[in-house]
Amino acid sequence: MNYILAPSILSADFLDLNNQIKQVEEAGAKYLHFDVMDGLFVPNISFGIPVLNCIKGHTNLKLDVHLMIAEPNRYFEKFKEAGAEILTVHVEAMKDPEADLKRIRELGMIPSITLSPDTPVESVFPFLDLVKQVLVMTVNPGAGAQPYIDKCTDKIKAIREEIIKRGLDVDVEVDGGINEETIKTAKDAGANVFVMGSSIFNHEPYESVKKYLEILK
Ligand code: DX5
Ligand code: ZN
Repeated sequence: MNYILAPSILSADFLDLNNQIKQVEEAGAKYLHFDVMDGLFVPNISFGIPVLNCIKGHTNLKLDVHLMIAEPNRYFEKFKEAGAEILTVHVEAMKDPEADLKRIRELGMIPSITLSPDTPVESVFPFLDLVKQVLVMTVNPGAGAQPYIDKCTDKIKAIREEIIKRGLDVDVEVDGGINEETIKTAKDAGANVFVMGSSIFNHEPYESVKKYLEILK
């Protein structure tokens, strides 16, 4: 299995963003995770296209964009132009997930679907053939540094089992409350991409990425 760390800049020091991104890249992270919030699909507002535009072309990390926004298809072209490479959309936020996921691929981005902790796992099953990644939210979307919700472990397992059963090549990413303990739980359940915000950026980013990559070995 190919294990990937995806540091989430939601917890980064924005005044020192360039340096912090370089640190996680040098330490061996492969993705950079962007949490885009619109104040509607989730209560908070975070950041969006102008921040991506600044980073685009200045890192080799794959830009992994998690849209916590209502009717995300209104912005697919704009996120593509801003450098998004993986685009994750919430099953709860779309009117026509099939059409939206196909459109993401047509635009040359990697389609990824996600579901919130209270959304039944089966809700993403009809779309597994259309994605390269499923993001299992292990906290309620909308804020960093929340505790991992234990019941989500069974969802990771169920999604990985379904992927294997159908012979698909799909990554399972986890997002929310991932730390020294829960990274092992999520890995054992079948996750292979790990979003980490506060566990990396509220500590020494370089050392933290090294530490978590060691745990994943
Ligand atoms: C939550 C976001 C997460 C968040 C994770 O809405 O999707 O990506 O940054 O933060 P931690 O790792 O601190 O739980
Ligand atoms: Zn996220």
